[in-house]
Amino acid sequence: MATLSNPIKVLVVNGPNLNMLGKREPEIYGRDTLDDILSRLNEQAQNLSIELDCFQSNYEGAIVEKIQESMGNVQGIIINPAAYTHTSVAIRDALSLHSVPIVEVHLSNIYKREEFRHHSMVSAVATGQIAGLGAQGYSLALTAIRNMN
Ligand code: DQA
Repeated sequence: MATLSNPIKVLVVNGPNLNMLGKREPEIYGRDTLDDILSRLNEQAQNLSIELDCFQSNYEGAIVEKIQESMGNVQGIIINPAAYTHTSVAIRDALSLHSVPIVEVHLSNIYKREEFRHHSMVSAVATGQIAGLGAQGYSLALTAIRNMN
């Protein structure tokens, strides 16, 4: 269980098109913008003695580099790889470099949607996955990482 005196750092990665949250298919992804989600997450993090490093990119290589650079510097990773979930061996391999807890988050329940979304390239290297609970998935992921450190 968490000792809150033990400060930790968590990397939060969001993939392509998540910068459009709020405007993007709100019936699927909700009305919160990414800034809304991350500012609430930052508040929660402060209360849990967690420093967040939040990163969003629409480019696979940029995501790979960010995950590489964070090696040894973070005690947990929250990642919503968005469309790259279903295609990216490169992001999966980058995540495999880490031995810290990794929580894969999806706003929507990918298993209820089109068949091409049913398979995740990254879940086999993640500690766990949260899908279908909307923005609160990020918050649950942060609690889980705190509890594992
Ligand atoms: C998503 C689900 C993916 O299939 C999709 O490509 C996204 C968002 C989600 O959060 O529900 O961009 O990762």
